[in-house]
Amino acid sequence: MKKVVLAYSGGVDTSVCIPYLREKFGVKEVIAFAADLGQGDELEPIRLKAIDAGASQSLVGDLIKPFIEDFAFPAIKANALYEGKYPLSTALARPLIAKRLVELARELGADAVAHGCTGKGNDQVRFDVAIGSLAPDLKVLTPAREWGMSREETIAYGEKFGIPAPVSKSSPYSIDLNLLGRSVEAGVLEDPMVAPPEEVFAMTSSINDAPNDSEEIEIGFECGNPISINGSRLDPVSMIRKANYIAGKHGFGRIDMIENRVVGIKSREIYETPGLLMLIRAHQELESLTLSADVLSLKSQLESKWADLVYQGLWFTPLKDALDGFINQTQLSVNGSVRLRLHKGNAIVIGRNSLENSLYMPNMATYGEQDNFDHKSAEGFIYIWGLPSRLWASLTNKSND
Ligand code: ARG
Repeated sequence: MKKVVLAYSGGVDTSVCIPYLREKFGVKEVIAFAADLGQGDELEPIRLKAIDAGASQSLVGDLIKPFIEDFAFPAIKANALYEGKYPLSTALARPLIAKRLVELARELGADAVAHGCTGKGNDQVRFDVAIGSLAPDLKVLTPAREWGMSREETIAYGEKFGIPAPVSKSSPYSIDLNLLGRSVEAGVLEDPMVAPPEEVFAMTSSINDAPNDSEEIEIGFECGNPISINGSRLDPVSMIRKANYIAGKHGFGRIDMIENRVVGIKSREIYETPGLLMLIRAHQELESLTLSADVLSLKSQLESKWADLVYQGLWFTPLKDALDGFINQTQLSVNGSVRLRLHKGNAIVIGRNSLENSLYMPNMATYGEQDNFDHKSAEGFIYIWGLPSRLWASLTNKSND
């Protein structure tokens, strides 16, 4: 194998992949690619680290804008929560990285792409499946899934090739982060009964540290996209940053769950996804005002299917495209704004409004004098609506005699 493009994070595992690909897979040129997804790391040191580890080229790519516009915003429109809880902050990044890896492989004439995922997680599934649908002919090399080295052995192997062992005693946690949030696993968290220590959180305040005073905000939406906070228009990336800041400050957006991985394992996960979770909550609320009951009902079933597909690595599939078609059609009327009160770990909806698309009719809903609802029509409606149950009951009562 001559040339391989490797998804590179700067961590020990992906660094060790570089000499390992050269030594054990006989790869001549390893090209490292590090994606900027808003994780806040300095990318130049990471780029140089890959060169030190033996990469022939080391590239970084800013993917923040497409990450938010093409992956996070569709997830908001889908109100996507895997198993009702996890807003897919890690899962959404994988198909984008896979897409970029494939593009680079094509541009640079590489024979294969590679990643450093282990064989136990969801990320390997997402990378492999996404790459397979974008480029069925391209080989995917997965050294960390094959080498069978313990953490200590991996570090020792790296040291032989000049890859420094992690300086400080490295964190007991396995962490993935990007602009949408952080996922934290391992260490004491492996006992599902142990409360997450405060040190695992970085984007959200604890309830104790959150301000005593609540804060009210108004989030504006256009066709299901969040576009403003308190009347100031924000581009998608700034929207997520600002939402993270406000929700995080008030300690909203922490998730502690037992999650079912694609590979069949149940794992304990801690997430903090303050902005995304707050925007999904506000978006759901605006839909309750602007979408009809039957659309809401079918959409909620399709939303959980959408979240499953994304979690399971099936982003580039015909079913996902078809669901997006349905969802996008519904979003044409999701225009308006939602008021939230943030306080001590809560984001409480306190109001919603839509000038053009509200299906809430005050003269139908009111209990006051403006009431236009025809109460008498209810009688005939209920006569017919209840007919099947009365027929059923008369038969049942007869057989009970
Ligand atoms: N369990 C989450 C998911 O499947 C987070 C995975 C975190 N990945 C990682 N390499 N640490 O989306």
